[in-house]
Amino acid sequence: MTTTHFFSFFIITTLLTLTGATDFVRPIDRSLLGLNRKQKVSHFKFYWHDIVGGKTPTSVQVVPPPMNKINTTSAFGFVAMIDNPLTLAPELTSKLVGRAQGFYASACQTEVDLLMAMNFAFIDGKYNGSSITLLGRNPVFNKVREMPVIGGSGLFRFATGYAELRTHWFDLKTGDATVEYNVYVMHY
Ligand SMILES: *[C@@H]1O[C@H](CO)[C@@H](O)[C@H](O)[C@H]1NC(C)=O
Ligand SMILES: *[C@@H]1O[C@H](CO)[C@@H](O)[C@H](O)[C@H]1NC(C)=O
Repeated sequence: MTTTHFFSFFIITTLLTLTGATDFVRPIDRSLLGLNRKQKVSHFKFYWHDIVGGKTPTSVQVVPPPMNKINTTSAFGFVAMIDNPLTLAPELTSKLVGRAQGFYASACQTEVDLLMAMNFAFIDGKYNGSSITLLGRNPVFNKVREMPVIGGSGLFRFATGYAELRTHWFDLKTGDATVEYNVYVMHY
């Protein structure tokens, strides 16, 4: 390769990299993804049931806290998988609108402060089959907690927003809890 050839090759590859003109990625029109529509803001309200006790729990511990290594009342390190019902009213027998599937884990050594990662899989009406994804921090004994909505699928593509959590009911004996969720989501 002559020096001139080398420089042409170098300039062309640099230009291709800078303009992003590769097979891997290309810009597309917003309207192809429905992003030319006006963005909506929706408020969803429902109740999340963490059923730990009884014969048919929806929340099961999969990793116990490593108590031999730590000394904490917050069960730091424990992980529970959930497939919790989401209902319209506080009663578990009220209309099922979806399920909260994911896990929560104790992420704090000094208080009960959970890391939560969940998909809300809706089954109601036009939202059947669509989901939103939450990832956040839940200091469970605070009156109000807030967690980000980081995305979604189906009708919730490109979703962002947040959820406000308020404990509606908590049974100290079984560990069962019902939590009110108010979710504010921006979507198309
Ligand atoms: C845990 O810590 C407390 C004080 O912080 C201490 O009194 C107790 O003995 C410790 N327990 C264990 C198992 O290390
Ligand atoms: C939701 O969609 C699934 C699959 O398309 C269907 O089987 C089910 O009956 C629907 N549920 C409701 C409540 O519409």
